[in-house]
Amino acid sequence: MKRLEARPYREQKQPELLKRVDRCKHSLGRAPSLRVILVGSDPASALYVSNKERLAASLGIHATTIRLPSEATPESVRHLVEELNTANDVDGILIQRPLPSSFSETQTLLWIQPEKDVDAFHPESVGRFTLGLPGFAPCTPDGCMKLLDFYGYDVGGKTACVVGRSSIVGKPLVQALLRRNATVIHCHSKSQNLSSFTQQADFLFVATGKPGLIGKDHVKPGAVVVDIGISKNTAGETVGDVLFDEVATVASAITPVPGGIGPMTVLSLMENTVAAAEARITLLKNPPA
Ligand SMILES: NC(=O)c1ccc[n+]([C@@H]2O[C@H](COP(=O)([O-])OP(=O)(O)OC[C@H]3O[C@@H](n4cnc5c(N)ncnc54)[C@H](OP(=O)(O)O)[C@@H]3O)[C@@H](O)[C@H]2O)c1
Repeated sequence: MKRLEARPYREQKQPELLKRVDRCKHSLGRAPSLRVILVGSDPASALYVSNKERLAASLGIHATTIRLPSEATPESVRHLVEELNTANDVDGILIQRPLPSSFSETQTLLWIQPEKDVDAFHPESVGRFTLGLPGFAPCTPDGCMKLLDFYGYDVGGKTACVVGRSSIVGKPLVQALLRRNATVIHCHSKSQNLSSFTQQADFLFVATGKPGLIGKDHVKPGAVVVDIGISKNTAGETVGDVLFDEVATVASAITPVPGGIGPMTVLSLMENTVAAAEARITLLKNPPA
């Protein structure tokens, strides 16, 4: 059984990314820059944000987090995003989720202008990705595809099963797989007899946030299992949705948690930020008539 870890991918791609960052610095006179808005004090969100800052710093990307108290009003955050939308020294903007209950998560998706929407959550970004038009790729599905490419897997013509249908992971992952010519089965909490679907999959993707949901009886012998879930167990350890040791006895490859899709997602975010800075350079060189 092969462990599909993110680290070798990162080590191979980092030099090219560093070169792109340097070219941006040369052309813009500053590093590609990302603003992360963190509302409230959710400990998991604080950890995700610090991971983003750390990876950005190691790549020479300027990432700063704007920390707001949980009492911040949706109106004040929308105004802040509007300012960042027009700021020439900001290439990418991200609103860390989950937001406090005073926010309508769907409304917030409309705030960040598509050119700076490096998470690719805006309806225009979603539509572009679904239609195969140029635009940012959603980070977690993109990270999944890049990791599979890196280890030499091709989902084309194969059966893929996605468990989970959130707008940020499950649904765009289905689109990413269709773009790669997989035959896709899509499951969710109302799917009956889950294992009857997952057992058909040559490639099984799980994004539910339910630790241990997937055991060996859910997995076709020889399948590649991509575990996207991130949760804490009672011992405070980070775990995925897949029972790793058990599934390792039937699968041919699994992405570990931690160390698999989590870091790939953050890397894709950084690549989108650099791409946003490069798009700004192109625009400066060829201003619209
Ligand atoms: N690795 C990364 O970079 C990364 C990025 C984002 C999220 N995550 C992690 O991925 C997990 C999912 O995140 P999310 O934002 O997609 O979560 P979410 O919005 O809570 O969605 C969870 C999905 O799982 C489905 N589900 C729940 N229980 C199920 C069950 N027993 N059987 C089948 N499907 C079930 C739900 O179905 P219904 O729609 O029917 O409710 C829902 O579609 C979380 O652990 C999150 O932390 C990881």
